[in-house]
Amino acid sequence: MSQFGRSEIEAALAAVRERTQHQPHIGLVLGSGLGPLAQSIDDAVIIPTEELPHWPVSTVQGHAGKLYLGTLEGQSVIALRGRSHLYEGYHPSQVALSIRVMQLMGVHTVILTNAAGGLNEAYTPGDLMLIADHINFVGLAGLNPLLGANDERLGPRFPSMTHVYDRELRQRAREIAQSQHLPLQEGVYVGIAGPSFETPAEIRFLRMIGADAVGMSTVVEATAARHGGMRVLGISGITNKAVDSTETDAEPTHEEVLEASKLIAPRMEALLRGVLRGLPRDTR
Ligand code: HPA
Repeated sequence: MSQFGRSEIEAALAAVRERTQHQPHIGLVLGSGLGPLAQSIDDAVIIPTEELPHWPVSTVQGHAGKLYLGTLEGQSVIALRGRSHLYEGYHPSQVALSIRVMQLMGVHTVILTNAAGGLNEAYTPGDLMLIADHINFVGLAGLNPLLGANDERLGPRFPSMTHVYDRELRQRAREIAQSQHLPLQEGVYVGIAGPSFETPAEIRFLRMIGADAVGMSTVVEATAARHGGMRVLGISGITNKAVDSTETDAEPTHEEVLEASKLIAPRMEALLRGVLRGLPRDTR
């Protein structure tokens, strides 16, 4: 694992700019099983991330690494399909490269989506969950994307994480969900490293510390985005119920996650489109 700084970010940014004149102001990160949403982006320039210097290559089934730059609901967007994860062996600053490239392209709002396991017993697979707040479990334990020398041009040394998930955007998302009858929960997402799913004892522990959903992404990107002064909206698709007992045959699988995503993807698309429609065209 090596730590990324300004030179890697600028090299990746330059390679994106060589391929397109687009000036996106909204960034989208599409989680597991949600990649096909990128096909809704109009007139997209598509860049395989393996063509970009320093880009951490995504190695997971269901996570083809591509950037899409185009228009969605009249907004100029950059979407990442196939994010990278800590469990692939990347340093958090590498995982955050996509967010930094978006930041330097002028993106002011980032929408992070993911697949997550439902810890809250009221949640059903297929639900969407608005992320009200997060627990950066690996970050608290020392794997924070902001480790190392701080680049003041990207953000402050000690950024506040009190309001990671923008209140106005959450309100907007609630209104859209209500008007379109989309099942929307709201809760705390805990980010763990993975790739192993949690043990039942870990599930009970994560519930106890106040988490409603658990996943292997998002918190690193959200931390970098807030550091960079961007507004963040986070939406989880609940793909499975967390298994909290060893005395059952139930087990989470990646196949189950991808299967549930088929139900989640159209709901997520409706919510994203509604939120994008309500955003001003270019303010910061
Ligand atoms: N645990 C961790 N990550 C996940 C899960 C889960 O149960 N479901 C989807 N991503």
